[in-house]
Amino acid sequence: MEPSGIPGLDEIVGGGLVKGNCILLHGGPGSGKTTLAMQYLYNGAVMNDEPGVFITLCENPEEIRKNMLAFGWNLKKIEADKKLKIIDARPVTFNEQGYIVPNNELYKNEKVPFSHISRLIVRTMREMRAKRLAIDSITVLTSQYNNPTYIRQGLLGLIQVLSSLNCTTLLLAENRGDDKETNLERALVQGVILMHYARKGSAMLRAIQVLKLRGRKHSSDIYLMEISNKGIIIHPQERLEI
Ligand SMILES: Nc1ncnc2c1ncn2[C@@H]1O[C@H](COP(=O)(O)OP(=O)(O)OP(=O)(O)O)[C@@H](O)[C@H]1O
Ligand SMILES: [Mg+2]
Repeated sequence: MEPSGIPGLDEIVGGGLVKGNCILLHGGPGSGKTTLAMQYLYNGAVMNDEPGVFITLCENPEEIRKNMLAFGWNLKKIEADKKLKIIDARPVTFNEQGYIVPNNELYKNEKVPFSHISRLIVRTMREMRAKRLAIDSITVLTSQYNNPTYIRQGLLGLIQVLSSLNCTTLLLAENRGDDKETNLERALVQGVILMHYARKGSAMLRAIQVLKLRGRKHSSDIYLMEISNKGIIIHPQERLEI
């Protein structure tokens, strides 16, 4: 078990995240997924001297660095200290003319889904001696395929590889309106955390809820969460009804 360093999170997951586990972080746009994942890696690097790897499949790495600096997290500094690696694995790239083209190197001719990206992950985790990983987001990978058997094969493979590396992973998943859209992912991972961003009266409230943690007694209540200028803060004393 390892503390995440995120205020309130360890209390609601029963002490901390279990080493080697893959946790699905499911939330809608702006619910705080990227911030929570980066806070986990940043804390690992700065508090525990533990290197981390962040795979971005959506956002430009420069944009992430800029956004995270607003919380006081200087990613460039920990990258220079070899405590963080941000890998840009977006499925599209630009050619010399500035036109978008597919990122063939990572996504073409795979016999098993996600095999190229898992190879890249394994290589990088070993190089960095990293034990913390975030993939932002798994939705980008799964949405390439429409055959559930195929997706299951790829996801299972990825989860097994990460577990064999004893790597603790946050798999970010987009909630695009239908809660059931990540049922397959939820079934395969060791843990599921939902990030809510819901209207209450005239305002929007942020909240977080642990839905599943294999082998662990945990609360499944919905807890108030905020994004402050220091990052995510969870309030384990404040349960919400939303
Ligand atoms: N410096 C800051 N201080 C306070 N709140 C912030 C700050 N920066 C961002 N936020 C809040 O965090 C939200 C974005 O969080 P984040 O990018 O982690 O969400 P996400 O779930 O990854 O979103 P997406 O689905 O777009 O990837 C913003 O919409 C804003 O409300
Ligand atoms: Mg995000």
